[in-house]
Amino acid sequence: VATRLSADPDPPADLFAVDLDLVRQRRSAKWRMFPSDVLPMSVAETDFALAPCVADALRAALERSDTGYAMWDGLPEIFAAWAKRRSGWAPDPAAVAVLPDVIAAIEEVLKLLTAPGDGVVIMPPVYPPFWRAIDDTGRRVVEVPLLDASSTGTVGTVQPRIDLDGIETALRGGARAVLLCSPHNPLGLVWSRGELAALAERCAAYDALVISDEIHAPLTLGDARHVPYGCLGDVHAVVVTSVSKAFNLAGLKCAFAVGCSPATSAALQQIPIQARNTTGQLGVLATEAALRDGDDWLDALLQQLASNIDALDHELTADVPQVRWRRPEAGYLAWLDFRALELGDDPAQRLLDRGRIALLPGPSFGAGGEGFARLNIGTSPELISEGVRRIVRALR
Ligand SMILES: Cc1ncc(COP(=O)(O)O)c(C=O)c1O
Repeated sequence: VATRLSADPDPPADLFAVDLDLVRQRRSAKWRMFPSDVLPMSVAETDFALAPCVADALRAALERSDTGYAMWDGLPEIFAAWAKRRSGWAPDPAAVAVLPDVIAAIEEVLKLLTAPGDGVVIMPPVYPPFWRAIDDTGRRVVEVPLLDASSTGTVGTVQPRIDLDGIETALRGGARAVLLCSPHNPLGLVWSRGELAALAERCAAYDALVISDEIHAPLTLGDARHVPYGCLGDVHAVVVTSVSKAFNLAGLKCAFAVGCSPATSAALQQIPIQARNTTGQLGVLATEAALRDGDDWLDALLQQLASNIDALDHELTADVPQVRWRRPEAGYLAWLDFRALELGDDPAQRLLDRGRIALLPGPSFGAGGEGFARLNIGTSPELISEGVRRIVRALR
């Protein structure tokens, strides 16, 4: 749903060219975490220039020195219109809460709609900060690993999937919530309507809450169709999302939590002001511009990412066919399977030491991450080639 494909197969290269000298001057985490001889491809930021509509909005804000406390009046309506246009999901603006970021949103929703000590299901291998968000709020992590998560060698036959029976067992054992990653980071999986409906049915039977993290949904690619959890009807659930991944705005701090039922929507009204008011003024202004005027740029980005995935596939097949992977259905993160090379649980360490390239270590994503590493391909085809050259060098 959250996808547009135009007839033009070639992404406009100039919009997404990356000047390595320029991005090396960035002061964001991705470019500052490693020494300068390392090619950083771990942190989930993109290397592209900002969407012109976003850059214009930020430039205008700086011209008026508009850097005070954030106000987001009108933003829920703009988000709701965007969600409807892009995905067919039409949330009630009154159900939309604005927060600084998705992890903060998850924590606030857990605090409001679960109790201390409650079990919260996650499905490793999955985004590492999920563990901390649950711990920090005094809830208990219950791991129900994805089924066939490591089936990268058999594309088209065995698909990684949600362990519905495992989740039901956890709910029967007292878990009160499920933290869903939809699309799933790091595997880039887009869950089907059938899978989501089956999850919703099991959760409803136990009156369990679902928090659906949809931060990668705007980056749904090709023929894949992301189904917003809110499209499942009146479900005991909250969608948490942001355009920060798609538009590279993570440092500006603006995200959304959206209630999917009258009760969850009403609960979001109780989020304390101190949790909301660290939302960034520049984040609000940039998000508003992206939601209002960013569709064409986002469509072009999706084409660029699809072509990057082709490029990586081509390079890996040609240069390191032992590295297997499943093409992501959403996002710019490639979950690479190094197990055939027998580099141990954490191949990223060897790649860093010998190839001077940073990937995110597979084991940090929990069970099923051993022998894997995550590569960020939200960059130019040239830097993807350079990344593969460094991987090859590390393996010599
Ligand atoms: C699934 C998922 N959720 C949340 C986040 C972080 O979002 P935020 O920076 O808004 O907390 C990320 C970042 O990569 C992510 O992949």
